Amino acid sequence: MDYYWERQYRVFRPQVLSNVSGNVLEAGVGTGRNFCHYSPATNLTGIDLCSNMLKIANIRARKASCDISLLQNDATQLSKIPSNHYDWYVSFFMFCVMPDELQDLAINQIVRVLRPGGKFLILEMIYSKDEKLLKRQKLFKPFVEKVYGARFDRQTLRRFQENEHLKIEKTFFVKADVYLMIEGMKGNA
Ligand SMILES: C[S@@+](CC[C@H](N)C(=O)[O-])C[C@H]1O[C@@H](n2cnc3c(N)ncnc32)[C@H](O)[C@@H]1O
Repeated sequence: MDYYWERQYRVFRPQVLSNVSGNVLEAGVGTGRNFCHYSPATNLTGIDLCSNMLKIANIRARKASCDISLLQNDATQLSKIPSNHYDWYVSFFMFCVMPDELQDLAINQIVRVLRPGGKFLILEMIYSKDEKLLKRQKLFKPFVEKVYGARFDRQTLRRFQENEHLKIEKTFFVKADVYLMIEGMKGNA
């Protein structure tokens, strides 16, 4: 299902993950498309809600060059995940499929599990400001929502900005003005 998109994503995945190492929690791993891009200096815990996703992720985990353990878990609860432990929290395209009313719960869990100074890296999709592209996004909106459960209007960046424990260090687009990377850290407060 994601073959067409993945041909584009595989270009930026290694670039944006090149600085990530240490104890890493990746939420919403899906089929584990990020796994082969982590450095061997990574100790990765990967979680996803969906057991079928995790079955495929498990095959990719065995081929990765870092240690990976996978858990079926909900990013809004992270019930089996220790507090103040992780150097990095990574999540690609999870917040765009997560219902609006659950997003702050997931962000609060990021605050809980990151160590002070720990960093987060979130990849999201948003509406373009380019008229032609926006028109295309609006045309495909029902398809994207029905088939992938994803939306372009989740306001994830604003939610991170409003969290008093998290500091956004930079935002940048990895493709067009649609694929938005949000990078930042947990403060000491
Ligand atoms: C669009 S896929 C992205 C998969 C992967 N991160 C990637 O970059 O290819 C979104 C994933 O987030 C997972 N997900 C959605 N809500 C979740 C939640 N509350 N807790 C954990 N995983 C969740 C879905 O099961 C799905 O595997």
